[in-house]
Amino acid sequence: MIEEIKALKKERRATILAHNYQLPEVQDVADLVGDSLELSRAAARLDSEVIIFCGVDFMAETAAILSPHKCVVIPEKGAWCPMAHMITPDQLADLKALNPGAAVVCYVNSTAEIKAKSDICCTSANGVQVVNSLAQEEVIFVPDRNLAAYVARHTDKKIIPWNGYCYVHDHFTPAEVKAARALHPGAEVLVHPECRPEVIDEADFVYSTAGMGKHALASQAREFIIGTEVGMIYRLRKENPEKEFYPLSDNAVCQNMKKTNLEKVLKALQTLEPRVTVPEEVAIKARRAIERMLAVKI
Ligand code: 13P
Ligand code: SF4
Repeated sequence: MIEEIKALKKERRATILAHNYQLPEVQDVADLVGDSLELSRAAARLDSEVIIFCGVDFMAETAAILSPHKCVVIPEKGAWCPMAHMITPDQLADLKALNPGAAVVCYVNSTAEIKAKSDICCTSANGVQVVNSLAQEEVIFVPDRNLAAYVARHTDKKIIPWNGYCYVHDHFTPAEVKAARALHPGAEVLVHPECRPEVIDEADFVYSTAGMGKHALASQAREFIIGTEVGMIYRLRKENPEKEFYPLSDNAVCQNMKKTNLEKVLKALQTLEPRVTVPEEVAIKARRAIERMLAVKI
């Protein structure tokens, strides 16, 4: 199957993008494995006609918004991010009406409609820089309450959060961090900013998934406790075979990220279905918010 995928990828002039949480075998056939920001940047600059996006709905949608003339295919149509659907356009409209002077920042884990109604997007890698780049002193931040709290700690601006969350990261507890440290006293603890503030307080470092990758490569430490979705461990071990990586919890599994497998990737290449499209009237506005984010230097 791997050989078939490689041959068809060439024939179709396709690029396979995969998020860091994808299954190991899917990561291995991808041209680029990365975090949301890296994958968005890649989608914007790629010149291949077909993008096979192995991730969840909002990621493939972002690629389709940035590259409306490319064929963006998501191998599993049912792979969606629950947090991205925790705020509706009407709820955002109400929040804006309550806070008329505030800028609107939406985490890229959001629907295209929400992006279209926001001033700018951010990812877990650039939330603080995006918020600090704005002229307004008040900022509505949707949908993740935990990333909003993290950003609020690192900016002087007033952050008005929405109450969304990621069920995978919100589930970690400070007790789990303490227990992991007791088991591995020499390990550095890296957590994702989608974790609760009290978990972040127990960690040594807070990073997006790509940030974790860079930190692990550069650190002098030999052991790491990783507070994010377990798929990240595969990449970390592959890139650092001499170091040890322990998941903060074996239960930290994003079910939707695991729905994509090699069979579905091959089928996506064969059929170029299911294709991801965003209506142009929504895409125009959403593109503005994403491109504005991509212009922010980090
Ligand atoms: P990253 O952008 O850090 O990879 O995070 C995406 C995500 O969905 C985290 O749950
Ligand atoms: Fe969404 Fe959480 Fe899965 Fe990331 S890990 S895609 S935020 S549900």
